[in-house]
Amino acid sequence: MPHTCSIKASILLVLLSTAFVSALNITVYQPNVPFAPLPWPLSHAESEGDEIISLFQNLGRNTVWKSIANVSFESDTFEPEGIVRLGPDRYVVSAGQWTEPTAPFNTTINGTDRSTGGGFSHLIVFDGGGSRIADATITRRGDIEYHNGGIDFDGEFLWGTLAQHRPNSAAYVYKARPESLGPEPVLHYDDHLGGVVHDVQTNRITALNWGSRNASTWDLDEISDQYQASSTSEYTEPENTVRKPSHFIDYQDCKFLGHSKHYQNPPVMLCGGIAAIGSGDDTSYLGGIALVDVETMLPPDEIPIALRSALGVPLTVNPIDASVENGKLRLYLLPDRNNAILYIVEVQ
Ligand SMILES: *[C@@H]1O[C@H](CO)[C@@H](O)[C@H](O)[C@H]1NC(C)=O
Ligand SMILES: *[C@@H]1O[C@H](CO)[C@@H](O)[C@H](O)[C@H]1NC(C)=O
Ligand SMILES: *[C@@H]1O[C@H](CO)[C@@H](O)[C@H](O)[C@H]1NC(C)=O
Ligand SMILES: *[C@@H]1O[C@H](CO)[C@@H](O)[C@H](O)[C@H]1NC(C)=O
Ligand SMILES: *[C@@H]1O[C@H](CO)[C@@H](O)[C@H](O)[C@H]1NC(C)=O
Repeated sequence: MPHTCSIKASILLVLLSTAFVSALNITVYQPNVPFAPLPWPLSHAESEGDEIISLFQNLGRNTVWKSIANVSFESDTFEPEGIVRLGPDRYVVSAGQWTEPTAPFNTTINGTDRSTGGGFSHLIVFDGGGSRIADATITRRGDIEYHNGGIDFDGEFLWGTLAQHRPNSAAYVYKARPESLGPEPVLHYDDHLGGVVHDVQTNRITALNWGSRNASTWDLDEISDQYQASSTSEYTEPENTVRKPSHFIDYQDCKFLGHSKHYQNPPVMLCGGIAAIGSGDDTSYLGGIALVDVETMLPPDEIPIALRSALGVPLTVNPIDASVENGKLRLYLLPDRNNAILYIVEVQ
């Protein structure tokens, strides 16, 4: 039987008074198993990031992806939004549990086009075989910023976003230690935010808005003191916002890979996503992955991926992570809702 952590009361965090009331309700399913594995994993930027970029150079439209394993994740994974692989025996999944659907306004009200709906954000930890170790609910009942986006790991913190579940809305960026999962607010912004990455070298974070049409970047050295001091829900203006020029796919989940020697040293991230083409019954979905220059949002390389889950969902629709195994690029993809299967594929 799962038991709810007895220290729950003490970790029901109330952070920054009115600015961000963070709820942390963790149910621990494997009491003696740490959430984060030992040895502590390195970030991609500190380990195989450049090798991932290098192997990406060999990919193309005709790349054959070999199925390595399908790992059934135990229990409800809701709508998976992001994944961080912490070595071979841990996955952290950000997921959204929707309790009330958003309803279209059929017009624009306050800049957006639908109602808030309702739900909860989760960070769920699984071991390498898919057994659930812990499920943290990181928002409270009634919170309107309940949509968890893509996540990244910088070697110390997980980075994520808690947004309203609608375009042109508002969002927090948070960070959380993988060993405790408690979200710490970093900033509040007046747009929806999804995927986010942290460049440790420049101490900047970049987050994508609805459909990844824009990327906004904040210099954490500039904003952290300001945010901590304000303790209000004021918005923190980004250092800049860049329009994403590629319309090939909308990026959902990204992993920071480091400053790449392959492209004159820009910060590079790996992103997965899809494009919905057409409308109504004629809609088709194109999946793909891209290397993206985090500063310009220009993708120096991108390829389509036609793979689908057993349920017919494009494998790149939401969570993606990557590793290099015996010199081969491996992807970790979690496309389906609710009873998710992790599809592990490798370049043949
Ligand atoms: C904590 O989470 C569990 C599992 O999601 C849920 O059943 C329970 O109602 C939650 N408790 C509180 C106080 O929110
Ligand atoms: C918007 O349109 C849909 C479909 O026509 C309808 O079901 C819904 O009630 C409308 N919403 C509002 C707020 O009028
Ligand atoms: C629009 O914004 C105003 C002012 O914040 C608020 O009172 C109103 O409820 C909002 N309308 C909707 C439909 O959310
Ligand atoms: C992108 O950002 C620009 C500049 O801030 C803004 O004018 C534009 O409306 C944004 N576009 C989207 C789709 O968010
Ligand atoms: C994983 O599932 C896919 C789709 O259902 C299937 O084609 C593939 O053979 C499976 N892979 C393994 C290793 O079982």
